[in-house]
Amino acid sequence: MAFRVAFLTSLLILSMSSSGNALSLNYYEKTCPDAEWIIAAAVKAAAAKDKTVPAALLRMHFHDCFIRGCDASVLLNSKGSNKAEKDGPPNVSLHAFYVIDNAKKQVEALCPGVVSCADILALAARDAVVLSGGPTWDVPKGRKDGRTSKASETVQLPAPTFNISQLQQSFSQRGLSMEDLAALSGGHTLGFAHCSSFQSRINMNNADPTINPSFAESLRNICPIHNQAKNAGANMDASSATFDNTYYKLILQGKSLFASDQALLSHPETKNLVSKFASSHQSFNEAFVKSMIKMSSINGGQEVRKDCRVVN
Ligand code: HEM
Ligand SMILES: *[C@@H]1O[C@H](CO)[C@@H](O)[C@H](O)[C@H]1NC(C)=O
Ligand SMILES: *[C@@H]1O[C@H](CO)[C@@H](O)[C@H](O)[C@H]1NC(C)=O
Repeated sequence: MAFRVAFLTSLLILSMSSSGNALSLNYYEKTCPDAEWIIAAAVKAAAAKDKTVPAALLRMHFHDCFIRGCDASVLLNSKGSNKAEKDGPPNVSLHAFYVIDNAKKQVEALCPGVVSCADILALAARDAVVLSGGPTWDVPKGRKDGRTSKASETVQLPAPTFNISQLQQSFSQRGLSMEDLAALSGGHTLGFAHCSSFQSRINMNNADPTINPSFAESLRNICPIHNQAKNAGANMDASSATFDNTYYKLILQGKSLFASDQALLSHPETKNLVSKFASSHQSFNEAFVKSMIKMSSINGGQEVRKDCRVVN
């Protein structure tokens, strides 16, 4: 009862500054105190078996938050005639959904119906960064899961061909600043991209002028226009399993994979931040944490799903 009152009070306070679900650090303190440990252990076990898991979880959380808020809409399966987000075009390389399923199963066994899938994904994304050698932070919790997921809405995600004004618009529509854009793009220190995500900027005859020519040449070798292996692509950077600031150093050398990465140099504010993050791992880490907390607080759903793949 005391908890209920405290919860309602904090909800009231937070609802004065924002609408939707109030997030708090101790949200599950009474109702499921071991949830964070269980989730961290599930992510760790999966990452030990498959080193692509951390990058996948970080990207999954970003996709979740950018469509309908962080409401686990990215986790829902298509049903009947409804094609869900995970079956939309930008889903290339979204994977490792089973990690969230495993964590949810274990958490449900302990405290049924309490911990939302959206919170599990937000925590798993944090755990993924930590496991990759990145910074840690306390994740505010209390997200609710949504009941809608539409493949057609994935067009709202920023594309790798976006220029700086398109990126700025996409982020500002979600209450995110140019600093958030510069810091969160650093998520591209982890993982892998398929040729299709950067093919259009490496073509021999009309290569993107902002790309380093020898880097473009090496990408053309990996991604020949004809005869391309089905899963051909490139790691984000040479240390793609390590969360570090290499991404920003590569941007300064014209060696980032996407036009949207390189575009950070075309606005004075993001350009300054790229230089700052390239020269200070510490300032990148601090900015990343601040912006992750902001992005992962974008409001979404209404319920606590029992199964992350289907609505209650
Ligand atoms: C700024 C706008 C962004 C664009 C245009 C963008 C675009 C992309 C694209 C095209 C891929 C490669 C997909 C593929 O070819 O398989 C990718 C991968 C990735 N993105 Fe982003 N992204 C953006 C922001 C973010 C943010 C904010 C994060 C997280 C903080 C993030 C984390 C990742 C990760 C970790 C991968 C690698 C996934 C894997 O290896 O499984 N991205 N992104
Ligand atoms: C991505 O979408 C395609 C259809 O557009 C689907 O066949 C595929 O299973 C999806 N991938 C994932 C990981 O859900
Ligand atoms: C970015 O692209 C949009 C759409 O193609 C275009 O209207 C705009 O002028 C471009 N902005 C910059 C800064 O290149």
